[in-house]
Amino acid sequence: MKYFIANWKANKNLDEANQWIEKYLSLPVTDQQYIVIICPPYPLLYPLKEKIKNRKNIYLGSQDLSIFEAGTYTGEVTAKSLSGLIDYSIIGHSERRKYFNESEESLFQKVHLAKKYNIKPIYCVRDENDKIPNLVQIVAYEPVYAIGSGSNEPVERVLEMKQKIHFPNESFFLYGGSVNKDNARTYLESPQIDGFLIGGTSLNPIEFHKIIVAA
Ligand code: PGA
Repeated sequence: MKYFIANWKANKNLDEANQWIEKYLSLPVTDQQYIVIICPPYPLLYPLKEKIKNRKNIYLGSQDLSIFEAGTYTGEVTAKSLSGLIDYSIIGHSERRKYFNESEESLFQKVHLAKKYNIKPIYCVRDENDKIPNLVQIVAYEPVYAIGSGSNEPVERVLEMKQKIHFPNESFFLYGGSVNKDNARTYLESPQIDGFLIGGTSLNPIEFHKIIVAA
């Protein structure tokens, strides 16, 4: 089973999300075993859920969730409020660590809350210095220099890093960082890489679909 995760980051409004999903759903389904997870901004989750409800293999994820379970935290989006709406959540993306100073302790708390509310964490690490909490079943390795730069990390280096990070047994190992249709296949030829976390290229449904087809 291979994962193709679209991380839209802080992009798209309702019209654009609708256009994306309508286009994506019109593209041919390949017969291989794979899971697509779309991670849009929070307000677009529900409208997308309506559009994908009868489709197999497509799931929704959030790009983050609150460290608080509930209470007087204006503006926070909690795991509880997301439960039932999403199946996955990205946790610990390097942009959140950098721009929002997310500490390892807070990320571990987010994983705990995600699990409590039946949301599967997609836990991001930048290198071997980022610890991975127990119970995480999907780990995305994303070297910071490769994100959004057009410079993807060669597959050999990705596999070396897989050895170095304390990667939980029986978990899925994803790569992220400038993945596109031209470089995707080199990774998935390795049985050790279970899919991708895709930023820029996922904003265009045709380009995103080409990655799945290439793989
Ligand atoms: P990128 O982003 O595909 O644009 O490099 C990946 C990510 O940040 O998850």
